[in-house]
Amino acid sequence: MLDWSARCIARTASAALLIGALSAWAQTPPANRPWMNQSLTPDQRADLVIQQMTLDEKMSFVHGTGWNGLQANAEIPKGSLGGAGYVQGVPRLGIPGINMADSAVGVRLAAQGSHYATLLPSVLGAACSWDKDALFLFGSVIGRELRETGYNMSIGGGVDLARDPRNGRNFEYGGEDPLLAGTMVGELARGVQSNQVMGDIKHYAFNDQETGRTIVNEIVGERAARESDLFAFQIAIGLAHPAGVMCSYNKVTVRGVPNSNADWACENDYLLNDVLKKDFGFQGFVLSDWGGTHSTVKAAMAGLDQEQPGDKYLGAPLKEAVQNGQVPMSRLDDMVHRVLRGMFANGVIDNPPQAEVVDPFRGRDDAEHIADESIVLLKDQDHILPLSAGEVKSIAIIGSHADVGVLSGGGSAQVDAPGGNAINPKPGTSPWGQPIYFPSSPLKEIRRRAPSAQVEFNDGTDTAAAARLARISQVAIVFVNQPMREGRDAATIALPDNQDALVDAVVAANPRTIVVLETGGPVSMPWVDRVQGIVEAWYPGIGGAQSLAAILFGDVNPSARLAITFPKSDDQLPRPQVPGMDLEQKAVAGMPEGHHHRQELPPFNADLTEGVRVGYKWFESEHKTPLFPFGFGLSYTTYEFSSMSVDQGQRSVSFTVRNTGERAGTEVAQVYAILPPSTDESTFKRLVAWARVTLGPGESKRVNLKLDSLDLSIFDEATKGWRLAPGDYEIVAGSSSADTPLNATLRVGE
Ligand code: BGC
Repeated sequence: MLDWSARCIARTASAALLIGALSAWAQTPPANRPWMNQSLTPDQRADLVIQQMTLDEKMSFVHGTGWNGLQANAEIPKGSLGGAGYVQGVPRLGIPGINMADSAVGVRLAAQGSHYATLLPSVLGAACSWDKDALFLFGSVIGRELRETGYNMSIGGGVDLARDPRNGRNFEYGGEDPLLAGTMVGELARGVQSNQVMGDIKHYAFNDQETGRTIVNEIVGERAARESDLFAFQIAIGLAHPAGVMCSYNKVTVRGVPNSNADWACENDYLLNDVLKKDFGFQGFVLSDWGGTHSTVKAAMAGLDQEQPGDKYLGAPLKEAVQNGQVPMSRLDDMVHRVLRGMFANGVIDNPPQAEVVDPFRGRDDAEHIADESIVLLKDQDHILPLSAGEVKSIAIIGSHADVGVLSGGGSAQVDAPGGNAINPKPGTSPWGQPIYFPSSPLKEIRRRAPSAQVEFNDGTDTAAAARLARISQVAIVFVNQPMREGRDAATIALPDNQDALVDAVVAANPRTIVVLETGGPVSMPWVDRVQGIVEAWYPGIGGAQSLAAILFGDVNPSARLAITFPKSDDQLPRPQVPGMDLEQKAVAGMPEGHHHRQELPPFNADLTEGVRVGYKWFESEHKTPLFPFGFGLSYTTYEFSSMSVDQGQRSVSFTVRNTGERAGTEVAQVYAILPPSTDESTFKRLVAWARVTLGPGESKRVNLKLDSLDLSIFDEATKGWRLAPGDYEIVAGSSSADTPLNATLRVGE
């Protein structure tokens, strides 16, 4: 630890010197470093550096330097902060190295540098805010804390679509709709980069399940691909212009596309060159997921710019391939250019991060604000909520360690809990694979808000004891959880560890039962009709308990709306079982868990037969009724939608939203389109616009939303382009995908 602090102090001092020196250069760039002239474009500056680089210096930019802080015995190279990745710089030319930190929901591995990192709510939760500002704030917290710990690149920003509610990483992603997820995660990455830290969008593409992620071949049609997952990436990348895009572990087959035929995502010419770089115009660099590179010449020519975390393929073998002409020098220069361009564009060379002390209070306040907008009220029968602090006499708090903390998501998104896991505190890095609770205690916060009530806790391990406490209490609040993490999917959407039986026992003892869910994604709820209140808190972050208590007692009026459909059961899904789950379960039995690779299993296919119909589109077109639909969420007030009109020329819609209740609140007004039959997409809606509308009691507002042609278009495989099909588009609006009282027609001519 001493060693780390000494390194931090030294870093701070040298960073200060460097900044002084850099600001002097900014005014008059030294003649021998013309790239320090800030009036040049990032492209010009990158080219000027490349002109001065030796072959070996170029090579250092196209691969990492090993497993760093991720593996216990891995060497931490000089200059590295011990995060997930480190790329060596060129000190001779004043170009710093790249220190990358995993930071999906907060900066990972902070504890090893004796730092604090804020745990934000899950990205899926934050996406339920439908609030661009909240997501920008989310990214800003990460960017700020990365800078304060000396990192200059985030490798968060996951935007794979939630095709399967059992995906272990759904909590890191923005949900099931490409427009919502792309917008939310794009804003997040913009927030990161607003702190002069490089951002990243991942895992490109179709890393939509964790089971067999390093061997599975995802099969999808081209049009479906472009209109679903790839559309989410297109939107996020277009908004954020991230420095990096991380290609995923899996293989991808785009049906009928010869250069995407069971090719690994990190050597998939169609995905990387044709779509990402050409069609999306992505100017940054493609870095492989950790261990996701499989070849040298093929990968380099298909568009991979940087191998991570090591140099097996893009180290010496690439140098040789450049020397013998198999990979042209111009391609190596392009790879290096893309990295340097990102560094100049994001200010990491002009204004490198200075290590400071992270402000935990500022982070907590920001996290709590985002949680206020993330927590979804799913059921509120007979207005059991909000609880009245003055009236409630006794409350039973049951289960999920709600006495000490809130659950967080695992894997590379894991943030170190301050002081260690709240259920078994030991300072240090949070271990892989264990559910980690953060010290934000629902019990304490509920007691604080209801000082005159008797508030007792039962840990829920003995259902009879839990039921006894519920019986003698006026209200019972049962906390249930679903720990999720990278490298593993849930076998089912049912709650693990017999928690349904716990809810059954509690509600049988006291019908005034409220269930609070701390889950990575949707779960089934066999007790849905018997409990009176249901609150989805997701993994709510370090301000989670405060936010949850504010919602339970009505100080915050819930405004979040589901960014993902809650099915009733696994058999409603396009694939009742996650492909490969049977193989995985056989292989894992009795084996120690290796989270990165499952190469010992036979490769298998996952055919994404639902195509573009991800989530609510699948449910609608198959006439299935989910447990809770996409876009759904209750409030302590009610809203009414009326008087919709369409401006055909402007391609915009207007309608009125009125708060018909007695409390101020924020409604998420959602607009969907049903495409004309000629598109073959008329059996389901697609989200095309939304607005968060804040209204006082009785207040109404007119909402006007412009519809973007791209959001209404289809991808035409014949012309490889987007096309706005002529015909009548039914435009509907309301409070969820299943509740759209307004409708009108938008006519698109030939
Ligand atoms: C994950 C990435 C992560 C990387 C480095 C991989 O296992 O898939 O999301 O950034 O590890 O930790």
